[in-house]
Amino acid sequence: MRVAGAAVLLLLAGCGDDGVAARRARLGANATLAARLASADASRGARLFGACAACHTIGAGAGDRNGPNLHGVIGRAVAGGSARYGYSAALRAHGGRWDAAAMDAWLRDPARVAPGTTMRFAGVRDPIDRADLIAYLRAAGSR
Ligand code: HEC
Repeated sequence: MRVAGAAVLLLLAGCGDDGVAARRARLGANATLAARLASADASRGARLFGACAACHTIGAGAGDRNGPNLHGVIGRAVAGGSARYGYSAALRAHGGRWDAAAMDAWLRDPARVAPGTTMRFAGVRDPIDRADLIAYLRAAGSR
């Protein structure tokens, strides 16, 4: 049993990059959002959410911080995620819903999607990181 446990640990250690390199190679440089989402890793997205957690909670009913609570944000109206939060005029004027495509564009470059937004965040350049974040936002919003 001990030996088997050690072997499992070694296997896990070998996947230190969470299989991202393999996914990247398989998907290629210009993968569509659909393809990226089909192989997205929500638990890796949970770790990436560490970059958001200074400003955002995601638990059901959790409070707003510098940014609004993000529970169930995927599928919601833009600037409609948190009832008490004071959204900027820029984001309120955006309209539409947070589907995966809108979220992918927002996470890439918030200031470009909603010029004047108060979300001071440079954006997530890596398309695979964005897909994993979206998978996590989805998963965390449904529990
Ligand atoms: C420095 C603080 C900060 C960081 C870091 C940050 N955000 Fe935000 N976020 C905000 C603020 C402030 C707003 C409100 C923007 C507005 O009203 O213009 C916001 C808005 C949002 C919205 C819109 C919510 C709605 O109800 O329409 C989403 C989605 C979002 N952020 C996701 C993220 C994700 C995912 C990350 C990490 C990759 C992140 N943010 C990182 C501050 C931050």
